[in-house]
Amino acid sequence: MTTSPQRAETARLVKEAADIVTVIGEHVQLKRSGANLKGVCPFHAEKTPSFMVQPERQTFHCFGCGEGGDVFTFVMKYHNLTFPEALQELAQRFNVTLPERAGGGGQDQEQAQKRQALLDANEQAAILYHRLLLEAPEAADARAYLAKRGVPAELAERFRLGYAPNRWDFLVKALPTAGLDLEMALAAGLIVKKEHGGFYDRFRDRVQFPILNLSGQIVGFGGRILGDGQPKYLNSPESPVFEKGRVLFGLYQNREAVRQARRCLLVEGNFDLLALLAHGFANAAAPLGTALTPAHIRTLKGYCDETILLFDGDTAGEKAATRAVPLFLSEQVTARVVLLPGSHDPDTFLAEYGAEELTKMLAEAQSLPEFFFASLVRRHGLTVEGKSRIVSELGPVIAAIGDNQMQRTVFVAHFSEKLGIAPAQMLGGVSRLAVLPRAASSVRAADQALTLSLQERQLLEFLIAYPEYVERFLAAGLADLVTSSGATEILARLQALGGEEQAAGSEYLLDSLVGPERAFVSRVLLNTPAYSVEQREAIAGDQLAWLAREGGRVRRERLTRLLGEAQQANNEALCLELMARLRDMDQGQGVSV
Ligand code: UTP
Ligand code: MN
Repeated sequence: MTTSPQRAETARLVKEAADIVTVIGEHVQLKRSGANLKGVCPFHAEKTPSFMVQPERQTFHCFGCGEGGDVFTFVMKYHNLTFPEALQELAQRFNVTLPERAGGGGQDQEQAQKRQALLDANEQAAILYHRLLLEAPEAADARAYLAKRGVPAELAERFRLGYAPNRWDFLVKALPTAGLDLEMALAAGLIVKKEHGGFYDRFRDRVQFPILNLSGQIVGFGGRILGDGQPKYLNSPESPVFEKGRVLFGLYQNREAVRQARRCLLVEGNFDLLALLAHGFANAAAPLGTALTPAHIRTLKGYCDETILLFDGDTAGEKAATRAVPLFLSEQVTARVVLLPGSHDPDTFLAEYGAEELTKMLAEAQSLPEFFFASLVRRHGLTVEGKSRIVSELGPVIAAIGDNQMQRTVFVAHFSEKLGIAPAQMLGGVSRLAVLPRAASSVRAADQALTLSLQERQLLEFLIAYPEYVERFLAAGLADLVTSSGATEILARLQALGGEEQAAGSEYLLDSLVGPERAFVSRVLLNTPAYSVEQREAIAGDQLAWLAREGGRVRRERLTRLLGEAQQANNEALCLELMARLRDMDQGQGVSV
């Protein structure tokens, strides 16, 4: 992309006006830290702030993921914009006049113009729909419907709710009159192309909910049919300005309340959100009928410390909560859950029981992973058989995590710890395809030549990436549990690394290995995510706890076997000594053989 002198000058003016602390502070909670400000990075999963904003230099940098740059970089990355779009957005906000078509041109500029045209089409449609809802005779049923559903007029205004009339050509006629290009309305999904030429309106006889991005622009609509009928909700299709997996309905309007409460209530439906507002709960947001995504959760992280899932009490609500477990675990966001009684959703619950009852339910919200675990234990119990059923029920949840190795590791570590079983045992119930990270087939073939138990694989994967933990793992009895020849070989090389070599990185390790062991190590090095120090500690803690338990069991088995041999051989002295050691173990003293 070539930058004209004119555009460079404009960019300089915008940069001068757009204070980086103000811009980033809209989306990330920043705290003073000396001359700088610190917050939780919106670009990767972390809990301890490593995201720095430097007002002096008007830059930001994340020590966790390496992301960094100036105010333009931030806006482009955060809102998924091109440079000209970021420039335009900031110019508009900070009242810098852009010269006509600020130089440049090219693809970026074209993209930016197209997106702006889609936003314009949506904006104009919203104005038209809203005007109808407020005053048109043909919107009488829609007004009655909203009244029946308890939406106060002031909320309808604030959310710019509208009515799409029961006509095939409302927008098709009205948009060109307002000077808008129908091709752009088509690309925004407001109208649909007819088979034999011409267009028709997508939304007809529906209450229209404008969906806003975090800059307050209308990126799409959700349309609710009046009364019964299919589909109940019709949403705009995805477009260059509308990605369903990134947007939360109501968050833009509620962002200050979410920030102040430091907590967001996540509900499933548009009317749930409005009902909450009508009852005084202003800190809510709703995904658009889609499952939660990491992008949703990272967005929320910029506004609050905690999310409460406020889901229907039916099985769908429980399913949705279950699906969210690995997501919140891996994004390290605290989540709690409230399942409403019966088949209530927040809207019907509030209508029947009122705000006070909801406040009580919120106060008793359970931690999401605990909720999930408790429901498993409630159904299956913690007997050996129960555990095995729990493990098989966790299987599909783990499989649903798909390719995200980080999510899977944290999830498996969390629940194997709680069940008191080996992580490997938990993975045993899942098909290998779902468990193994995707790897090039040649590398996988090499892997297979190296036979490792799943538990060896899991321990080694972590230690190869983070050899500084080898000592602690050895002290916890690692050597007892690493028994296959390939694993023993790799562990020996890991042990042989001096402190300096550990620090210098992985080349030493790779250099000291050949064949399948080398292929395995190189694959692990390529695939292991860069965990933050906190994540490392958490994973190491889980694995160490498991090692301690599992190591104890293996040592006990070995002592018992030796004792049997000593008895057969009538070696009384050895028998006594071995019995003493077993007794020590029972008293919790870690004795090794
Ligand atoms: P629900 O089916 O739970 O509906 O969908 P609701 O919110 O309780 O709807 P009301 O109260 O009957 O009006 C929850 C959300 O899922 C999306 C919508 O965003 C809805 O608010 N959804 C639902 C769709 O996108 N399409 C549908 O057909 C249904
Ligand atoms: Mn509802």
